[in-house]
Amino acid sequence: MLIRDDLTSAAPFVTLRRHLAVVDSAAGAGFVQALAADALVIQFQDVGTLPSGSLTIVLDAGRSFQLEGKAHDSGPLDRTTASLTTPSKAPAHIRITDPRQRDILADLLTLIRKSQHIEICATTDIEASDRYTGFSDVLLRPMALPELSWADLDTSRTFLGGRFALPLLITGMTGGLAQGAEINLRLARAAAAAGIPMGVGSQRVALDNPQHAAIFAVKKTVPDLFLIGNIGIAQLRGVDALELCQRAVEMISADALAIHVNVLQEVVQVEGDRDFRGVLAQIAAIRERLGVPLLIKEVGAGLDLETARRLQEAGVAALDCGGKGGTSWSFIEGERTSAAVTRAVAATFRDWGIPTAVAMALLRRDLPQMPLVATGGIRDGLDVAKAVALGADLCGIGLPLLRAALLSEDAVHEALLIFAQGLKTAMLCSGARTLHELPRRLHQSRAFTDQLTSYGMRASSDAVDFPPHPI
Ligand SMILES: Cc1cc2nc3c(=O)[nH]c(=O)nc-3n(C[C@H](O)[C@H](O)[C@H](O)COP(=O)(O)O)c2cc1C
Repeated sequence: MLIRDDLTSAAPFVTLRRHLAVVDSAAGAGFVQALAADALVIQFQDVGTLPSGSLTIVLDAGRSFQLEGKAHDSGPLDRTTASLTTPSKAPAHIRITDPRQRDILADLLTLIRKSQHIEICATTDIEASDRYTGFSDVLLRPMALPELSWADLDTSRTFLGGRFALPLLITGMTGGLAQGAEINLRLARAAAAAGIPMGVGSQRVALDNPQHAAIFAVKKTVPDLFLIGNIGIAQLRGVDALELCQRAVEMISADALAIHVNVLQEVVQVEGDRDFRGVLAQIAAIRERLGVPLLIKEVGAGLDLETARRLQEAGVAALDCGGKGGTSWSFIEGERTSAAVTRAVAATFRDWGIPTAVAMALLRRDLPQMPLVATGGIRDGLDVAKAVALGADLCGIGLPLLRAALLSEDAVHEALLIFAQGLKTAMLCSGARTLHELPRRLHQSRAFTDQLTSYGMRASSDAVDFPPHPI
């Protein structure tokens, strides 16, 4: 379907699959075909007429929204000239002019966005098109006779006061409204069984509406889990950010809080934020009074050195390099809309960012004492071993575990086991009994060290050659 951006709205539309938001109205049943900050496009089952009076929109999660107004006057639901001329069966374009009605629409859009993300992640290739994380440009030197036993391998790790069996983290992912609670529970049980920490996805929906807090209440079932709360920089604007973060922590009894930095995602997102001034000062203020460790995470474009240094100065407890090569949020946001301009820009930036291995190496060399997580395109135990060798304390895994969780809890257990056994195989076959011995087994190609230099690493050989024993 072609939806002209300028037909009913100044903002581009997101396009929905038909089951996400169904419509009940005086004009009959239908579904929301597209949505913008100030407009709806509805396909009615029988005729292309507009409703008068109230319009009920029911989301796949069961939540319903009421939009009030009359179609034919200057009230909140306002028919456009374009829709007057649409033949029957054509979608109805409805412009929302009333500010209160627009607030309802904004809520609707937030909730639908999460369902769209899950659906797109489950059904579409949304990773960086070249899959380049940088791990292919580093290797662990094999050792044919390591004089080690599988049983002696020590994969344990401490991070932000927690002790874990493996250097893995189930990274924060929103599960949406309909499936969020079940996805989080499956992930939480598997994390606890594997002895690793877990992050939840953005708690925004529950901070806006406490009725949704149950989605994140995994500690009721898995009380010993090390749990990391989550909020985005876009939510900190124009509010009491410290109070918001404290509520996020209290809501789930979080052991730490992650603030995600996602500028690329916001700017390509139809309804995203465009102003990122003042965030560093907010982070410093939050960190000072939060009461639990604060982790700052990128979500796929990579944390650069300059930003990382500022965050260290702000006193944050840990950083997640969130590098490029795995899930591409730019591409996902493009998939949500049929607006040609947004789709084109989003596709352009599908592979944008500092590859995960490069970002991790840069951060570790510049900030030797900082607890670091490597996330972004980590797809097997060998990637984990390489990331640890480059200096990661933990490796965050997203998309593969989300897809497993959509299948079953067993699938998450199995996926984590494959990561764990791959890591141990890499350790044994390279002669590293503990995680601390992995850096000595690392070899990095010239292409890799060239990248480090181009991303701001000093060219002096000791800096580039750390860890200390390259071939
Ligand atoms: C479905 C989905 C939802 C996500 N939601 C969030 C979120 O709410 N907050 C956040 O900080 N990161 C979120 N992420 C980003 C992940 O934490 C991670 O940084 C990213 O997916 C890269 O890792 P991957 O390549 O292993 O997927 C989400 C990822 C996925 C796949």
